[in-house]
Amino acid sequence: DFRKKRERLLALNKEAARFFHARLQAPEGRAGAEYLFGKRKLSRGTVTRFGLGMAPEGWDHLITAMAQKGYEKVELLECGLVVKGQNGRVYDRFRNRVMFPIIDLRGDVIGFGGRVLDDSTPKYLNSPDTPVFNKGRNLFALNIAKKSRLGRIILTEGYMDTISLHQAGFDCAVASLGTALTPEHAQLLSRYTKEAIIAYDGDGAGVSAAQRAIPILEKTGMKVRVLRVKGAKDPDEFLKTYGPEAFAKLLDQSENHIEYRIEQVLGRYDLTDDAQKVEFLKEVVGVIAGLHSPVEREVYGARCAELAGISAEAMGQEVKRELSRRI
Ligand code: UTP
Ligand code: MN
Ligand code: MN
Ligand code: MN
Ligand code: MN
Repeated sequence: DFRKKRERLLALNKEAARFFHARLQAPEGRAGAEYLFGKRKLSRGTVTRFGLGMAPEGWDHLITAMAQKGYEKVELLECGLVVKGQNGRVYDRFRNRVMFPIIDLRGDVIGFGGRVLDDSTPKYLNSPDTPVFNKGRNLFALNIAKKSRLGRIILTEGYMDTISLHQAGFDCAVASLGTALTPEHAQLLSRYTKEAIIAYDGDGAGVSAAQRAIPILEKTGMKVRVLRVKGAKDPDEFLKTYGPEAFAKLLDQSENHIEYRIEQVLGRYDLTDDAQKVEFLKEVVGVIAGLHSPVEREVYGARCAELAGISAEAMGQEVKRELSRRI
């Protein structure tokens, strides 16, 4: 039946994770160990805590090892651990990659991410959705972050961002699994924290992903803040360059989502130009009118008015007009 099947697939995933992890001590996994400990500067403790591993070069290392444990190829297929070729033969999906097991809230291994050791593509390969794995409903490291005492959750884009944050003492970091944040993700987070801090990459893709994530997180009633990584591509590189204390400062400086959105708009206009100033005001009126709380509208409306050098009253009237237009 379904439950038995599920348990069997979870047991297989766990065996696979053990296999990948053990390869770090074996000659065929040496490149993976060098990558994780050397290039990525992870400690033994971190690698153990996250159960990281290595899928060696070759087509059937996992298939062979799992066969010895009594697992059939069809089961490996169902777990997404192998792929069926055009000739009908199956081969290991993850080859010559360092492996990141994805563990759910119960502690079961439900899937994997695998990263190449060089700059070939695709950089990351993830398990497909399977009977035990749904990307839209699971977050990497939430099994650990849910026990954090930091009172907030830091949401990152990447496995390595989250792992580096944990290594640096920020044990409340999680990552979405190479997909956009979903309402289910947000709901899940809101069960464990009242405050979510978005710490995505500083590039254009990260900024627009943050903008999409804000309303999804807000809807659950969580406080939402946005952290800006400065002087580095992402939280992992920031930590490597500037260290944990500097990251703690970024956390302190992180803005609430309204300030963040106003800043984004501000960046696109030159307020010394009157025509652009008007455009800026039209756009922020839209942002302010979208806030649920009258107090927030008042405070941030006044802030925008000040930025543009107009009266708070004029701003208030514009917001009121926009609100009545929306009904
Ligand atoms: P990034 O390209 O920012 O990678 O993608 P990263 O996390 O900084 O990786 P490193 O530091 O080079 O190791 C962010 C996330 O998007 C997903 C992964 O989950 C990755 O962590 N992704 C990225 C994929 O699923 N596939 C890809 O080919 C690339
Ligand atoms: Mn990116
Ligand atoms: Mn990175
Ligand atoms: Mn990145
Ligand atoms: Mn709000």
